[in-house]
Amino acid sequence: MGSRRIERVAVLGSGIMGHGIAQISAMAGYRVTMRDVEQQFLDKAMERIRWSLGKMVEKGRISSSEMDEIMGRISVTVDIERAVKDSDLVIEAIPEEMRLKKETFARIDALAPSHAVFASNTSTLPITEMADATKRGDRFIGIHFFNPPQLMQLVEIIPGASTSTSTVDIAMGYVRSLKKEPILCRKDVAGFIVNRIFIPLVHEAAWELKEGKASMREIDAGFKFRLGFPMGIFELADYTGIDVVHKATKEMYSRDRKVVNPCPLVEELYAKGHYGQKSGKGFYEYGQGSYARIELSMQEAERYDPVRLLAVAINNASWLISNDVAGKEDVERALILGMGLKEGIFAIAGRVGYARLVDTLRALRIGSRNEFYEPDSWLLNLVKSSS
Ligand SMILES: NC(=O)c1ccc[n+]([C@@H]2O[C@H](COP(=O)([O-])OP(=O)(O)OC[C@H]3O[C@@H](n4cnc5c(N)ncnc54)[C@H](O)[C@@H]3O)[C@@H](O)[C@H]2O)c1
Repeated sequence: MGSRRIERVAVLGSGIMGHGIAQISAMAGYRVTMRDVEQQFLDKAMERIRWSLGKMVEKGRISSSEMDEIMGRISVTVDIERAVKDSDLVIEAIPEEMRLKKETFARIDALAPSHAVFASNTSTLPITEMADATKRGDRFIGIHFFNPPQLMQLVEIIPGASTSTSTVDIAMGYVRSLKKEPILCRKDVAGFIVNRIFIPLVHEAAWELKEGKASMREIDAGFKFRLGFPMGIFELADYTGIDVVHKATKEMYSRDRKVVNPCPLVEELYAKGHYGQKSGKGFYEYGQGSYARIELSMQEAERYDPVRLLAVAINNASWLISNDVAGKEDVERALILGMGLKEGIFAIAGRVGYARLVDTLRALRIGSRNEFYEPDSWLLNLVKSSS
């Protein structure tokens, strides 16, 4: 089945991600059925979609009749059978709980047409384990959108152990039809591509803070201005949500000890309910209401050299390459699109010097006795070939 044959998309969950996925699918011409457990959630989701499309009309990006057509392509239901019975593609965006996701997939396996492809928008859970709850492992895949789906260009595509190549093609084709950029994460590894870099960075920065290497603002300024990220790493963690970071950490660490060195500061914030922007306090304190940026200065950046942060990011990026999860270009592109980096992370690393990054990792490895810092073989080869 080619991607052109997808006409009907069912979106399960109408929260932060689900309503956005439903909106962009309808904008690309698909007929969409969005399902949630209560009508009030669906009403709120439709309100959000109407608001978002209304903004596009205001900016002249679509006409009001186009807005009406897009809205007309979305229907909502609390009835799971109605949601999936005519679908060609089901995208699951319900809460990040394996038990709930498996139950849901097992249930719809009996209700959806046999040709329908099932996709999960999970950020961290294993695709293969979810696929195993169904009898259609070959037609099961991860389609990982970033928040907000309406604006973020990157979508990671993650095949499970039994996913067929035609399902990969369907997923890639669907994402391209949304005018988004799919990047293939060839293996179902903890954190996929972007979270495998992002989540450990939050912890590494937290270790620097805990060890008194610099102030929070200095670390953030160094990260932002000296590496070319759009904001500080603590600021980004607060924006993402400390609860989300914490949950992702636990999930990733339980699957693979090599992926992150968890710093207790994150757990402490989580335990206190300091979830970041949304709760008014995370690493930083925020006023109530609208989204606030942290004003950081170049002077602060001069007081913190983010070499440890870069070393850890490059090491995890190299791990993805040496384990054949993604090629160098795809890793770089994913970080540019998913984390807003201005240029390729290997270009930045090249300027700092690979040998210096490996020395930094070795010192951390010896100091902490933690294999997380063991320099990756691909990175070591880079040093060899560039010396
Ligand atoms: N929020 C993000 O930044 C982000 C980014 C990428 C991926 N994700 C992933 O997307 C998924 C959804 O996250 P979210 O942030 O949109 O969550 P959310 O809490 O905003 O929305 C989840 C929605 O699913 C509904 N729901 C619960 N059980 C359901 C069921 N059985 N059937 C249908 N709907 C059900 C809830 O009522 C809620 O409206 C998670 O797997 C998450 O890890 C989130």
